[in-house]
Amino acid sequence: MYKQELTIIVKSIIDSNTVSEQLESAQQLSCFYKNIISCTHSDDNETLVNGGVALSSSGAADCVDDYLRTVSFIKGIHKALTRLFINSPEKSINILYAGCGPYATLILPLLPLFDKGRISVVLIDINRSSLESVQNLVSTIGLEDYNLQMIETNAITYKIPDDFKVDLAISETMHYALTREPQIAISGNIIKQLPCEAIFIPQEIRIDLAYTFFDYEQSLRVNVNEVKGYKEMQPYPHKVFVDRLFTINKEHFERENSNSRIESTFYTLPDIFENYPDVCLFTEIKIFEDIELQTAESYITNPYCLVSMYGIKDYSEIKLVYDFSEIPKWSYQLK
Ligand SMILES: C[S@@+](CC[C@H](N)C(=O)[O-])C[C@H]1O[C@@H](n2cnc3c(N)ncnc32)[C@H](O)[C@@H]1O
Repeated sequence: MYKQELTIIVKSIIDSNTVSEQLESAQQLSCFYKNIISCTHSDDNETLVNGGVALSSSGAADCVDDYLRTVSFIKGIHKALTRLFINSPEKSINILYAGCGPYATLILPLLPLFDKGRISVVLIDINRSSLESVQNLVSTIGLEDYNLQMIETNAITYKIPDDFKVDLAISETMHYALTREPQIAISGNIIKQLPCEAIFIPQEIRIDLAYTFFDYEQSLRVNVNEVKGYKEMQPYPHKVFVDRLFTINKEHFERENSNSRIESTFYTLPDIFENYPDVCLFTEIKIFEDIELQTAESYITNPYCLVSMYGIKDYSEIKLVYDFSEIPKWSYQLK
């Protein structure tokens, strides 16, 4: 019964086109989970690792309510999986999901759409109670026939076993502007171990520098029911794009060694800046191919204000530094 209900919901997510359809289908998924879950999610198991903060089980459960995020990731993963199944009709598909949280939101709903004999999933989380919750859901929904393995470990140091050749790896462990959570440390560790033809989702995270008026920028604030699609938003007209600071993708980790610091060049600060006094960072995510999350469509793509030029007006140039050796953060140097 639950499997059937989940299948209807996930199909409505995949078929959704307008923002209101996407919102409605994601809300249905959220209610589905909340109705069938039999345990409460712990909110005291937030874990600090070298590379960022792993959310508590309760914080991770709440991510399902970042509606466009949830819908876009599920659509992207569905598209990637469909591609893999078509391209390798004889083969079983191996999936690694790093940071699955208590709902395994980005893979569990999709399982009923695929042949259980051809799919193997390794689900990783640092929080045991999240994995227990996933195990519970698997039994309640009736997905025990799928080949699912749950591993309590740190995804930043996890070594993929030699006999598990990953076709698709997934990790959504990020906060806006790549602050706080360990997306980069996890992606680096996993991507380095993937076969070259494997897909990693998200395929690309782009961080842009702009001078703008932060308070006038679109941002998804407290009420997720007021989520807007990018095309419905009014862009702030005086925003000045400065540069793309970096693009995180498979190629990035093939180029970079184990450096946990990324520095930009120096950028000239404008002399007159009353229309754009804030030095801000903007995040865009390419989940898979044409499926993207743009600025302010989700919490994880909200803009981030690093500093106001009113506070640094005696300097003429700024350099930005991203450091993810501990909790990922941005800082700046002035010249
Ligand atoms: C932002 S939540 C997302 C949960 C779920 N994937 C979703 O999309 O709704 C990130 C999850 O990754 C887990 N996580 C973060 N860092 C981790 C690490 N280093 N190793 C294993 N799990 C980690 C957290 O415990 C949390 O459950």
